[in-house]
Amino acid sequence: MFKRGNKSLFLWRSVRNYQLPGVVALLGLVIFVALLYTLCIGENSASDKSNNDHATERVDYQVLPNPTVEIVKETQVIWQIPSDPKAVLLIAHGCGGSALNFWDRCPGCPNCVGLPEEKQIVLDALAEKFSVIVITSTDVCWSYGKDGLRVKEIMTWWLEKQDLVKFPLVGLGASSGGYFLSVLATEVRFRGIVLMIACGLFDKMDSIPDNYPPTLFVHMPKDVKRGRRINRHIEMLRKKGVETREIKCIEFPVTSHWLGDRVEGLNQTTSSRLFELFRSRGFIDAKGYMKNDGRVTPWREALKQSDIVLPYGSKFMHHIEEELNLAYAYHEMTSLQSDQIFEWLKTHL
Ligand SMILES: *[C@@H]1O[C@H](CO)[C@@H](O)[C@H](O)[C@H]1NC(C)=O
Repeated sequence: MFKRGNKSLFLWRSVRNYQLPGVVALLGLVIFVALLYTLCIGENSASDKSNNDHATERVDYQVLPNPTVEIVKETQVIWQIPSDPKAVLLIAHGCGGSALNFWDRCPGCPNCVGLPEEKQIVLDALAEKFSVIVITSTDVCWSYGKDGLRVKEIMTWWLEKQDLVKFPLVGLGASSGGYFLSVLATEVRFRGIVLMIACGLFDKMDSIPDNYPPTLFVHMPKDVKRGRRINRHIEMLRKKGVETREIKCIEFPVTSHWLGDRVEGLNQTTSSRLFELFRSRGFIDAKGYMKNDGRVTPWREALKQSDIVLPYGSKFMHHIEEELNLAYAYHEMTSLQSDQIFEWLKTHL
């Protein structure tokens, strides 16, 4: 099930046990880098050996956040269009999410909060020449009854206004947004959809339409129950002749520089101190793995009791929690698989 990624993890663990300083440090570095590239294992319905090779060929790019924010039909809509768009990507966030999470605070969006995974997905999409549009749900979570018609109308209006009607449309929905997107795709013509940490509502549909778009499940197998439902739904879709693909994201060890690397504005000194605090409080095990999800780990209390001062007060709390959740790999947005996701989407335009 875990193939390549797990092998690297295993190797990493066993190498650590030898404690031969020089060689191990070098080997550790090499394996750590390899590990970063194999955090997730793509698994194709057909065989796709080149799957992970793309990860090492990341193009060098510079995309600046430059979104437009508008209230349309009492709904917050934020978008950014690259210089030479090739396709359109609609993103649906998870429960409690918002379009504001997908861009850093900037002149075009002074209220944006730029959560690390969300904003990276957008930057990766823009670099791949996708026009990105994110719509905020009416309630905390999506409901098709409340949001379905509204999103369809907003998309029609926006695609026409931006002269993007002729471009292929794809979608990415996370968690609640994934459920929503799976239903929206029965009515709106997508070339492909990505359901992230979501299994979709296929078992609730009267029938899956014949022309249902190819579907990529990006999920975290540690969530066993969801994994089982995804397997059932993949079977349902395959029986209908719908192309499916699966990318499994597994846990990985946190390092002293992890938070500093991922959360812009959090320096490496603070990152190391947080890491040491979390380790001393037993939130992280000897090998660097999170023992539990960030949401249920009392790290905020530990931080309050410590003398660590975060820049900008509490601005980064959500950012830190997201990265801890990601490392634990049970239920979180992830941009670590962007290469594979956009490679897959591009083959369906
Ligand atoms: C790192 O950030 C903290 C908190 O904002 C600050 O107090 C400290 O001076 C910074 N350290 C360096 C080396 O920049």
